[in-house]
Amino acid sequence: MLTRDDCYKELGLLPVWRLKDVPSGRRGAGATIAPAPSPANLRPQLLQGIHSRGYLPHVKADGATYFVTFRLADSLPAEVLESWADAPEDERARNTERYLDQGAGACLLARPELAEIVVQTLLCHVGSQHTLHEYVVMPNHVHVLLTPLGEYTLSDLLQGMKSVSAHKINTVLGREGPLWQHEIFDRVVRDDDEMQRLAFYIRRNPVKAGLITEESGFRWSSAWNKDAGEAPALQRALLRPGEATASAVVAPAPRRPDVATESLEWPALTAAIKSCTLCPLHKSRTQGVPGVGDLHAEWLFIGEAPGADEDRQGEPFVGQAGKLLDAMLAALRLKRGENVYIANVLKSRPPGNRDPHPDEVAACLPYLERQIDLIRPKLIVAVGRIAAQNLLKTDTPIGKLRGHVHQYRGLPLVVTYHPAYLLRSPVDKSRAWEDLVLAANTMKNLKTPNP
Ligand code: URA
Repeated sequence: MLTRDDCYKELGLLPVWRLKDVPSGRRGAGATIAPAPSPANLRPQLLQGIHSRGYLPHVKADGATYFVTFRLADSLPAEVLESWADAPEDERARNTERYLDQGAGACLLARPELAEIVVQTLLCHVGSQHTLHEYVVMPNHVHVLLTPLGEYTLSDLLQGMKSVSAHKINTVLGREGPLWQHEIFDRVVRDDDEMQRLAFYIRRNPVKAGLITEESGFRWSSAWNKDAGEAPALQRALLRPGEATASAVVAPAPRRPDVATESLEWPALTAAIKSCTLCPLHKSRTQGVPGVGDLHAEWLFIGEAPGADEDRQGEPFVGQAGKLLDAMLAALRLKRGENVYIANVLKSRPPGNRDPHPDEVAACLPYLERQIDLIRPKLIVAVGRIAAQNLLKTDTPIGKLRGHVHQYRGLPLVVTYHPAYLLRSPVDKSRAWEDLVLAANTMKNLKTPNP
């Protein structure tokens, strides 16, 4: 016969961290505390695999506090998760955290108005359905530390939070389909030490992920202190001037995002690009396309803007032109991803592949500038007229720009033809070859110490 304690143990509920000094009256107006479940009630539920990931306890351990992570549907592909299947559980959890913090997927929750919806949902039934100890809404996942109240189980609460926020966010975005991944990570907090450690973890998460330097400056977290000195970099990067909702305002939004992008580290920068709404292109694109390659590359290739393939796949130069670019890299004995980073001036696809508008370039360029500052390449190759003219702030024809070593942000820059142009005008491939020789020689000279 299974005892009650056996059941709790099997559920991972012992020893349970309980709220101290909480008079039962504060646990929820009129709430009745559920009687401890009997073994008879528990057994069938155990057989359903209650404590496996993705199935939240439908029974209530009175006073138990849970650390819960739920994530956006596109934040952790099943194949990535499967690749860790053989790792011990704590290693899998660490891998997951690291992967999520790198900002995989479209990172919709980096958008202030969407993160705000999640925060409001978490706060909605505080005091009546649950006590919320800590929370953070990251760009692609959410951590909460909460205690269900009254008759509410963790399953009830999470289902409610996820479905209400998904409905609201889908309405704002005009989209359909699952917003959240079905699977949820949850664990019972076992003692005060663990409670403090997890609370600290949640509050520090935006700092650890490189979104901000002071936890109190992160708007979508229980650590937020609106009087704190530092303004949150990520949200400032994402807000259009004057756009912030009343509740999202924490500091005057900058006129241009460069003030904020200057301080972003890779994860925050990538998240900001993917979910940027600074120009109208965000309405027609599938996703923002940050760039691809070695974050410490000596070579930086900069194109114009994502095309249809890039917009779909989230990576620059993956279509026909991309194949030719790869061949150009091979001519330089370079390979995509190895000592090379590839980015575009615009991070969002212009409809019909039209030329970028000046205001779109102005809004987007700070992202590229920050990428350059983080990579610190030795040499830049501007790929095509649009990239060259926008970087060098000139309308000089490409025929006159190529063949010289220019400077951009203190770095040498060489101009060559766009591979899409070369596909249409193969006769100019020999000129492109000359450009690559110039680039190779420039790089060689940079690496040769002066006599
Ligand atoms: N053309 C570009 O300039 N960039 C891409 O990423 C794809 C095509």
